[in-house]
Amino acid sequence: MQDQTTHDAEDDPRNADLRYYLNGRIVGPDEAVVSIYDSGFMLGDGIWEGLRLYDGRWAFLDDHLDRLFEAAKAIDLDIGMTRAEIVSVLEELRLANGMETDAHARLMVTRGRKIRPFQHPSLSRSGPTVAIIMEHSVPRVGRPLRLATVPHLRGLPMTQDPKLNSHSKLNCILACIAAEKAGADEALMLDVHGFVNTTNACNFFIVRKGEVWTSTGDYCMNGITRQKVIDLCREAGIPVFEKNFSLVECYSAEEAFVTGTFGAQSPVGKIDGRVIGDGQLGPTTARIRGLYKALVAR
Ligand SMILES: Cc1ncc(COP(=O)(O)O)c(C=O)c1O
Repeated sequence: MQDQTTHDAEDDPRNADLRYYLNGRIVGPDEAVVSIYDSGFMLGDGIWEGLRLYDGRWAFLDDHLDRLFEAAKAIDLDIGMTRAEIVSVLEELRLANGMETDAHARLMVTRGRKIRPFQHPSLSRSGPTVAIIMEHSVPRVGRPLRLATVPHLRGLPMTQDPKLNSHSKLNCILACIAAEKAGADEALMLDVHGFVNTTNACNFFIVRKGEVWTSTGDYCMNGITRQKVIDLCREAGIPVFEKNFSLVECYSAEEAFVTGTFGAQSPVGKIDGRVIGDGQLGPTTARIRGLYKALVAR
């Protein structure tokens, strides 16, 4: 069993009694279920967003809604709700759960219930399934992460564009399993040219000689936290580059960290058994964390 993942939260007894949103209703856990004919359950045919609540507000909500509607358009799925309606149900569920801060929401939209158990999207005729899980969630601070490279690649956009936050995450899950078998917490995935791209669930950065590097962004999730880190570095005068780089440059980096809505910026201590820097949270990562916290508070 894995002792640590990138999405560990402190235990919170309030999570034993949560309300959920499902297709227009706020329901308890027994009713928060979808059909075995649901397109998301059967085929991973859906899209999702992960959002975080800080001091009564969903951080970067507009960016998340932009990405959600962009993905829906890409998979030709009519969400059947406006942006304002989505914001309103997020608020309704937040209040139903009495949440003020440190909550995490997973907003999911699938192509809905199918009339027969086959792939063709025209078999989904009941409209989309819209569901929200919202949990009390304070990320658990563990040791710096261990990453392992894996044979699973971030593919080209014409297969399953890695920018789509699709329900189907099998490629990433297989990568994560391979990393776990190698004794790591999460997989460091390469692109089709062998350059370092991203991890299976987060975006990836290194720090070399005071410069912050991340991949070109061509084969990874267009992470909202990733973009905020790039923007914050630019604002603060920290040199930041979106570029191709290889494992050689990762192993000898002074710092490495991953980004995502859940954990913000989490330090990486080891890659493929090589200690990165001194293996601890580095000064540039710590500084970016501070800048990000301040941005969220703004
Ligand atoms: C594969 C992958 N990379 C990165 C991220 C981080 O993106 P964000 O910063 O928008 O949470 C996610 C989260 O959805 C993801 O699934």
